[in-house]
Amino acid sequence: MALRSRIVGTGMSVPERVVTNLDLTQWMDTTEEWIEQRTGILERRWIEEGQKPSDLARQAVLAALEEAELDVSDIGCILLATLSGEHEFPGTSFFLHEAIDAGEIPCIDLRAQCSGFLYALQIADALIVAGRHERVLVVGCEVHSTGLDVSTAGRDVTVIFGDGSGAVLLEAVDADAGPGLIEVRVHAEGKHARRLWTEGPGAALSPRIDAATIEARKHFPYMDGRFVFKHAVTRMPEVLLETLSAASLKLEDIDLFLFHQANLRINEFIAHKLEIPKEKILNNIQRLGNCSAAALPILLAEASREGALEPGKLVSLTAFGSGFTWGSAVLRWG
Ligand code: COA
Repeated sequence: MALRSRIVGTGMSVPERVVTNLDLTQWMDTTEEWIEQRTGILERRWIEEGQKPSDLARQAVLAALEEAELDVSDIGCILLATLSGEHEFPGTSFFLHEAIDAGEIPCIDLRAQCSGFLYALQIADALIVAGRHERVLVVGCEVHSTGLDVSTAGRDVTVIFGDGSGAVLLEAVDADAGPGLIEVRVHAEGKHARRLWTEGPGAALSPRIDAATIEARKHFPYMDGRFVFKHAVTRMPEVLLETLSAASLKLEDIDLFLFHQANLRINEFIAHKLEIPKEKILNNIQRLGNCSAAALPILLAEASREGALEPGKLVSLTAFGSGFTWGSAVLRWG
């Protein structure tokens, strides 16, 4: 029997602590208007001291399992996409593994930044279609707030990012049965890696972190905002159309578009370019900021809880991020 993967559970978790644009003005030279006009963001969630990425991931995973009416022991493998590992190594997935008491289930961290969820989805799908695992848990998890420069020097990057986690559980189903993942396409262009990165700590630096590295602000993210914006609004429509074409679908066939939540203006630009009606797009960046690899699974979990995902609906997911990386997926809900 030919197999296909189907999402049987979604979950999300964001910290309780709300950081508004007004809050940010205490620490840096910015205004509520600048942030809202340029990014669409009104507030984001940042962790409280002592909270860890795996705490957020655990809550998201438990919610996904509850929705699927399944247990941890039903999972065959865990793929966790993140750019903000709980520790430099082994990352985050192993601490999630410990937190959900996952026995000896294999797990890995996957690093494809804001496109990480789609990269993980493609690998999970391949594992399922090959018959390697019956169920694969895909998690996106980010804690950006502990790595941001909240002074004026970091304002371009810092105002954008939020913390959060989202999870989906994929299950093998009969490929002829109807619902499930139809197509996922991902790409990368490493020559632009330094346009959006955090240089240290890293093995290319010796020592990996010291006072000089910190003085040079290499431990804070650097972003060439305009360059990133330009590439995002080109690559996202491109890969969305490529994916639909590979699935023999047209833009008009899609019921719901979920875009990575990096900047509301990017998503508005794409919607305008592709003439996608507003009511077919869900955004939550206004409330949550950019949660990188967690953005798409959080959106999916919210859509599921809000009843925006009726069985049979066609959903398109598209992202762009550091690396550069970009990708798109299309699935039939149900
Ligand atoms: N508050 C107030 N002013 C700010 C600011 C802030 N938070 N951040 C930057 N500025 C200032 C800049 O210093 C600059 O001032 P100057 O003209 O005196 O030099 C001015 O605003 C314009 O900066 P610029 O970077 O050109 O703004 P922009 O219109 O490109 O908007 C971003 C900046 C970051 C919102 C935008 O470039 C963007 O969204 N890029 C893509 C981000 C993205 O997608 N990142 C993640 C990918 S996964």
